[in-house]
Amino acid sequence: MNLEVLLHDRLAPALEAVAGRSVDPAVRSSPHADFQSGAPLALARELGRAPREIAAEVAGKADLAGLAAIEVSGPGFLNLTVADSLLTEALRATAADARLGVPAVAVPERIVVDYSGPNVAKEMHVGHLRSTIIGDALARTLDWLGHDVIRVNHLGDWGTPFGMLVEHLVDRGGAADHSIRDLTAFYQDARVKFDSDEDFRTRARARVVALQSGDPLSRELWRQLVAQSEVYFLDVYARLGVTLGPDDFAGESRYQDDLPVLLAELREKGLLAESDGALCAFPAGFTGRDGEPLPLIVRKADGGFGYAATDLAAIRHRVGLGADRLLYVVGAPQRTHFAMVFAVARAAGWLPDGVVAEHLGFGSILGADGKMLKSRAGDTVKLAALLDEAESVRGGKQNDNRGGSRASAPAVGIGAIKYADLSGDRRGDYVFDWDRMLAITGNTGPYLQMAHARVRAIFRKAGSAPGGITVTEPAERHLALTLLGFETAVTATATLAEPHRLAGYLYELAAAFSGFYERCPVLRAAPEVRASRLGLADLTARTLHTGMSLLGIEAPDEI
Ligand code: ARG
Repeated sequence: MNLEVLLHDRLAPALEAVAGRSVDPAVRSSPHADFQSGAPLALARELGRAPREIAAEVAGKADLAGLAAIEVSGPGFLNLTVADSLLTEALRATAADARLGVPAVAVPERIVVDYSGPNVAKEMHVGHLRSTIIGDALARTLDWLGHDVIRVNHLGDWGTPFGMLVEHLVDRGGAADHSIRDLTAFYQDARVKFDSDEDFRTRARARVVALQSGDPLSRELWRQLVAQSEVYFLDVYARLGVTLGPDDFAGESRYQDDLPVLLAELREKGLLAESDGALCAFPAGFTGRDGEPLPLIVRKADGGFGYAATDLAAIRHRVGLGADRLLYVVGAPQRTHFAMVFAVARAAGWLPDGVVAEHLGFGSILGADGKMLKSRAGDTVKLAALLDEAESVRGGKQNDNRGGSRASAPAVGIGAIKYADLSGDRRGDYVFDWDRMLAITGNTGPYLQMAHARVRAIFRKAGSAPGGITVTEPAERHLALTLLGFETAVTATATLAEPHRLAGYLYELAAAFSGFYERCPVLRAAPEVRASRLGLADLTARTLHTGMSLLGIEAPDEI
């Protein structure tokens, strides 16, 4: 039972009667009352009446008997106070529900979530890390809500660098598993050779052509490179506790055969123009700084297809899978790329009006100096080194301010990284700061894990089961109302694709619980009150656990 929705449904007819049209009651939780509606204020100008007068009339007409008390407040707000009986009923229903009052969606959508997308033979960088963490939280949440989620890892496994890489592998004698254990070094060696050795450059170019035309040896060596990278990435996903698996790789190479077809279709539809030898689409409304139309390069002057062509082919493919919604969790710098790709796909008829395509951009991770995160040596931070550091987190309270015992170290360190990433609006940048991320006070992963473990600890001491919930004390009411806000938080995260909604909610919930626990004795209370409070504690622990798991953050019972 979602109280916000219930009150919304009761206020809506009263507002409509007063306004003469349907009006969104905009019921929100509020620090001034259990819930509040500001709708009368928004109607004042239209109706030419004082907001308080409108509010009073709505209050008189609303059918809220037995549900809530309503009163006009301030300049014309409606304050709603939920009846204790309703609160009790709603909590009991939620506690009895394995899904904690969050029903699966009535109409599941098929949603493609494109995330992580690292590049073969290259170390994942922090941008890929953000994509992986945010994308996974969204995929888990949409999944849990009952949508049909297709995870896609758009691996960078194709393109001109592979001529150079495969040729370098040939020079090394081809034994992939020995010579390219360190793929990054392998890539860098190939690069150096490419930049300095004319003969190698020529061979590398010929190798691209051989690879693209299906030469068996070139393909086999390429396949080995890709396979090794996949093993490496899967290891990173396992360490991060990310739900991407071997079957989710759908690299750029997959679309190779579609590209000539796609080109022909674009040409037929009159969407192609030549520009400096390249074949480009010029979607309406995109201009560069100089005011000239911006090209989306479909085929490069050298005849090769690039990143944009592949993304066009991927859209065609995904729509062909019956997708209703295409999500791309990719850094903010690719905003124009996706906007143009979507525009061209729409114009070509590959992306029908009924299918939503969204680029979910995100900001950068910054170092303490406020600039892009770099390692001490000045190069980009190695993800593996970061994970090593996360996994080495240890020490309890006695060890400065950092959470975590040896046993739960990976959960705490990884949870801290993930939570730091998910707790702010994804569009913003944030500073990567171990001390802040690992603090056990404040809005951090370890704080939530600690809060959850504390609630579980109460049960280890209680030795008895939670009972039926009855709410009376103000701190109990506040916790109860917060618990009942779970559905709103999860839904907002799913529809807005904003994990920070859920993260912020969980933080509020943990805070509401600690307020309750300070003021309301649980274990020392009289038997019935004790059982009810244990009921509240149990629902809190389950909600924290479920919510954290939707964000991909572990909630161990003991820390
Ligand atoms: N490999 C790309 C990069 O490293 C990210 C891929 C994102 N997904 C996509 N469909 N373009 O920037």
